[in-house]
Amino acid sequence: MLDATTTTQPEKPAAERGPADGARARPLPPPRALATSTGEPGVVDCYSGPFHRIVFKGAGLAGYNEGRYADDPKRPHDEAHRLQNRKIVELGLFGREGGRWEGPGRPRVLDIGCGNGELLAEAAALGAEAVGITLVPAQVDECTRRGLTAYRLNYRDIGPEWDGQFDAVVLKGSLEHFVQPRDVVAGRDGAIHEQLFRILARVLDPRSAAGRVVNSTIHFLRRPDPAELLRSPFRHPAGSDAYHFGWLHHMYNGWHPCRGELAAVQERLAARGEPHFRLEREEDISEDYRLSAEFCLGVIQRAALTRPRMWREALVSLARYPRSTLVHAWGLYVSQSTNWYFRGPTPPTVGLLQSWKRAPAA
Ligand SMILES: C[S@@+](CC[C@H](N)C(=O)[O-])C[C@H]1O[C@@H](n2cnc3c(N)ncnc32)[C@H](O)[C@@H]1O
Repeated sequence: MLDATTTTQPEKPAAERGPADGARARPLPPPRALATSTGEPGVVDCYSGPFHRIVFKGAGLAGYNEGRYADDPKRPHDEAHRLQNRKIVELGLFGREGGRWEGPGRPRVLDIGCGNGELLAEAAALGAEAVGITLVPAQVDECTRRGLTAYRLNYRDIGPEWDGQFDAVVLKGSLEHFVQPRDVVAGRDGAIHEQLFRILARVLDPRSAAGRVVNSTIHFLRRPDPAELLRSPFRHPAGSDAYHFGWLHHMYNGWHPCRGELAAVQERLAARGEPHFRLEREEDISEDYRLSAEFCLGVIQRAALTRPRMWREALVSLARYPRSTLVHAWGLYVSQSTNWYFRGPTPPTVGLLQSWKRAPAA
């Protein structure tokens, strides 16, 4: 009825139809690389320690990424996150908000960097078969506890058993972790993004009516020197870009693309005969990020005064992940670098919600 109706496409050679002549593997096989897949240790520590313990368990926040606030700044936190997650799933399946799936069976959605499963739960509520991957065992446990399907898997280790298995892939706040400043210093960042989009194209079913990737990603407007982020943030003048970006890197471990960089990756790939995706939609959601970060900071500051559990969890985090916990204590509370991302008249970054449509198989 709406955007997601099954398209009538010309018959393709068997090799282009995805696995088993276009049929999905039911159920989806577990990833083969489960036992061997690993990820950036700093990312694992960040979400296993400070975020899992202090922000989620301690302060009681459901999510720390962007919620949907720009159209209603007073919206309750949980509802803001639920609506933003719904929007991302709908953009992936229908190319716009609203819509109804009329393809065969239930649509299948892969969430790369699924966190505690907030988006997976919303995708399931919309009728999708939702599968998440994350680097963090505690997040897999939390998803499983909620009856959701999630695996501890680095996206780079997604094997051929998932080729052509998904209608849409979403990445909410995860792409920023895929490139590290040391990769940029070594000139590897472009190749990492190219490999990412090859994997994304591979897991999408070429015959799906959807065939989209949706990412919400913070992009640099003022690109720092990657070498400066590898040094201690205390070596930079307090309040400078290098100081805040340094804290952010030491907290979260990652690197942002510049605005336009991911579209340039598609152009490079297309010029080499690999036209994987075209940018279908892009929305500036900086205000959603800004309001989310200010709300979360307020909750954490109040929790520090009113919730003894926050301090118990902080001590556990400190004992198990001392470096990451101390770095987060500074970056979240003292320098407030996560809030700095979107504060003031000339913020250093922009939050973009992007939808990429898979190019039809040649
Ligand atoms: C900022 S959290 C976002 C969580 C969730 N999407 C949300 O919006 O609340 C980043 C997530 O990306 C995941 N991640 C980072 N690098 C990854 C990788 N190479 N492969 C799979 N997941 C990754 C982390 O494990 C974590 O779940």
